[in-house]
Amino acid sequence: MPILVPPAEQYRDSFLEAVREAQRTGSGLGDTLSADPAELERDFPAFLANLRRFEPPAVPPEGFVNSEPLWLVTGDTYLGRVSIRHTLNARLREFGGHIGYEIRPSVRRQGHATLALRLALERARTLGLTQVLVTCDVDNLGSRRVIEANGGEMEGEFHVADYEKAIRRYWIELN
Ligand SMILES: CC(C)(COP(=O)(O)OP(=O)(O)OC[C@H]1O[C@@H](n2cnc3c(N)ncnc32)[C@H](O)[C@@H]1OP(=O)(O)O)[C@@H](O)C(=O)NCCC(=O)NCCS
Repeated sequence: MPILVPPAEQYRDSFLEAVREAQRTGSGLGDTLSADPAELERDFPAFLANLRRFEPPAVPPEGFVNSEPLWLVTGDTYLGRVSIRHTLNARLREFGGHIGYEIRPSVRRQGHATLALRLALERARTLGLTQVLVTCDVDNLGSRRVIEANGGEMEGEFHVADYEKAIRRYWIELN
């Protein structure tokens, strides 16, 4: 059974493969598609430190909130990732929400995102969150199913500034 873990050196080779896979297929979140594999290979510890820079007790700069990245892994194999925002700011309340996720292209449609969000919600509960906001593009049918399978109640469909697509906002109660 895959688990969520803090990003670590142990998953380096598999993570690099996943970045290349996403770039080859053109499918992934923006920072995965724009990552430079050569740079990651050159200094993976620096990449990890940067990825984890908003974890408490760090004080994030204006406009950012404390957050933590977690990777979904099985053995030493990287399957995907989640990002958990510990609080919302005005922008995240509109778009982005508390939790974002991505599964590497070669292992999609096997239930990994549904599991990753479930595990992320367990983590969110331990952080003291009682209600979690998750957003997705209206046309992201996979993500909609992932959220709904995890108890998401739709707030509505919206257009937000500086984003071309309509989005859905869902709330998940943690009790
Ligand atoms: C969206 C994404 C996370 C789904 O990951 P996944 O591991 O394939 O999802 P799951 O296997 O848990 O699938 C959950 C459900 O969605 C369905 N599904 C998955 N991808 C789908 C797609 N492209 N179109 C339609 N349905 C899809 C699955 O069949 C499954 O349905 P079921 O509940 O009836 O069994 C993945 O495609 C991805 O990483 N996309 C790029 C990044 C992204 O969009 N992140 C989410 C931002 S909000």
